Amino acid sequence: MHDSFPTTARIAGLGCYLPERVLSNHDLERMVDTSDEWITTRTGIKERHVVADDEGLVELVERAGHDAMADAGVEPGDVDLFILATATVEQPIPASSAIVQPRLGVTNAACFDLSAACSGFVYALNVARQFIATGEAKTVLVVGAECLTRYTNWTDRATCVLFGDGAGAVVLEPAEAGDGILQIDWETDGSYADLISMPGGGCRVPPHSREAIDQGLPFIQMRGNETFKVAVRALADISQRVLDSAGVTVDDIDLFIPHQANIRIINAVGSRLGLNGDKVFTNVDRVGNTSAASIPLAMCDAIEQGRMKRGDLVLLTAFGGGLTCGSALVRY
Ligand code: UT7
Repeated sequence: MHDSFPTTARIAGLGCYLPERVLSNHDLERMVDTSDEWITTRTGIKERHVVADDEGLVELVERAGHDAMADAGVEPGDVDLFILATATVEQPIPASSAIVQPRLGVTNAACFDLSAACSGFVYALNVARQFIATGEAKTVLVVGAECLTRYTNWTDRATCVLFGDGAGAVVLEPAEAGDGILQIDWETDGSYADLISMPGGGCRVPPHSREAIDQGLPFIQMRGNETFKVAVRALADISQRVLDSAGVTVDDIDLFIPHQANIRIINAVGSRLGLNGDKVFTNVDRVGNTSAASIPLAMCDAIEQGRMKRGDLVLLTAFGGGLTCGSALVRY
């Protein structure tokens, strides 16, 4: 009976949304002790998008999700599973996926949030693929979305220059071997959990506690330099492992889309893998680090620029807080 199940999942549609408001490096120069020159040379970021005062996570998810369903030609009622990858929830209870469900119209879908920081989109692809491969789900909406600027300490120049808001979504449908997600892998190393964290705002240090407020704990903190080194190694290792498992080499890849955290990380990983620069996609200059939204936002840009088209072999690799990493080899 299992022989009749599809073996994998394919991306049937893609949608993205960036908030209208743009914050440039020059704007940041007026907010903290930084410079366009420092941010550009150390990170590659020139600008990032920031939610409007009356926007939250759900507005971003709604826009990207609707676009992905339209692109796939599916009705919201056809979606039977909706996974929202995010580290920046609308509110702690209930799940943000449940809050946005009526706005998306995916009323027949079971909904849950997935927390794997910047690797959340790739983790969600893996979960969705499993449900489709077992026949438990047929049409899955996966959204990676972040409202990071609401969790940013705007007096900390080491982090506030890095993050941006946005959302990217895909609709996944059953596929036969050779199409869609060909290989996927993920891993977690919790011994590095304190490298990227928000130590206040949970049950250990509740958001309303004096300690949380006095010590500014409900904000993202990062030990950037240490994270940088682990990120390069982890991104390169898991990418190579996925290529090896699939029996392909970098020469077979049409495009590598890594998590957009820092241009220096992206370039270092590209050269470790032996990839030509023109096969490595980057849009970090325009969007900054958008965590779980990063890879689908980059996919949208790659398609718009004519760098990615149907039938291409694309490697998607992410790394983030946890520490988590994940990589998917996809026939788009
Ligand atoms: O998405 C999840 C994964 N995240 C990542 O992969 C991020 C990984 N880390 C990074 O991208 C980089 O480590 C950063 C961009 C965060 C920082 O770059 P760096 O080259 O590692 O700089 P650093 O932290 O070693 O700091 C160098 C100097 C310090 O000054 P001193 O001590 O040398 O005098 C910092 O205080 O740069 C200073 N600095 C800044 N100066 C101007 C830190 N932030 C800023 C700033 N503007 N915004």
